[in-house]
Amino acid sequence: MKTLFIGQNAIYVKSLASTNTYASELLRQIALSDGSLIYTFEQEKGRGQRGNSWESEPNKNVTLSLVLHPSFITSQHQFLLTKITALAVADLMAEILQTHGILHQIRIKWPNDIYVNDKKIAGILIENYLRETTIQQAIVGVGINVNQAVFQTAPNAISLFSLLHQTIDLQHCIALFCECFEARYLQLKNNKLEQLNADYLSLLYRINEWSTYQTPGKQVFEGNIKGVSEIGKLQVELISGEIKEFDLKEIVFV
Ligand code: BTN
Repeated sequence: MKTLFIGQNAIYVKSLASTNTYASELLRQIALSDGSLIYTFEQEKGRGQRGNSWESEPNKNVTLSLVLHPSFITSQHQFLLTKITALAVADLMAEILQTHGILHQIRIKWPNDIYVNDKKIAGILIENYLRETTIQQAIVGVGINVNQAVFQTAPNAISLFSLLHQTIDLQHCIALFCECFEARYLQLKNNKLEQLNADYLSLLYRINEWSTYQTPGKQVFEGNIKGVSEIGKLQVELISGEIKEFDLKEIVFV
C-alpha cells in the first residue's frame, strides 16, 4: 500500500457482524493508531444509515472501517469528514472506471452516498466520538459494491462488476481506497477547504437542477439544490426563490 499512515496498521478478520461495531469494541480494549484499517470479506450484519442494514454477499465486496483521531476537526465541522470520505470513494470509482476505459458520471448524493448512473455503488457510515469541542475519534465505515452481481434487499444498488463485466481484486480495491482517502485527509489537514468544497459541489447529485422532493409528511415540492452548509445541511432553492436548509430527516429525494 502506497500510503504514509492510512491502512498501514491493517486488521483483517475472516468474518464479522460489522466492521464499524468491531472497531468500536476494539477501541474500548486497545489503542489504535490514526489510520488503522479493519476489514473483512464476510460482513454478516452490516449497518447502514438511519438504522438500515447493508447488504454484502460474502467474498464479493469491500467492507471496511478506518479509525481516525482527527482532533484538529471541531465538532461543529464534523461534516468535513463526511465530505472527504465521499470524495475519496468518488476518486476511487473514477480511477477504477477510467483504468477500464469506461466513462460514467460519478455523483455524491447528499450527504454521502456514491452514485453511478442513478444507482448506488457505495455507502458510508461515520461514527464520531466527541470530546469537548473536537472529534476525539472517528470510525469511518465504507461499503463498496465490487463483484456482487445480484442484490436481494438493496433496491437501487449497482456494482463495479455490473459496469465493467469483470471482477476486481478486492485487496487492490482496498489499497487504492486507502491511497485516495489519505490524499483527501491530507488535503483537509492542510486546510485546503476551498478545493475540497469545490470538488464536493462539482460532484453533487442534482446540483443546479430542478427536481422533485418530498417532506417526510409526503408533501411533494420542486427544488433546486444549491449547495451544502458548513454543518452539512442541504441548501435547496424553492419555487418562491427562498433558499431553505434541510437536515437528513427533513427531505426525501423522489
Ligand atoms: C449506507 O449507505 O446506508 C451506509 C452503509 C455503510 C456500510 C459500511 S460496510 C463497512 C462498515 N461497517 C458497517 O456495518 N457499515 C459500514
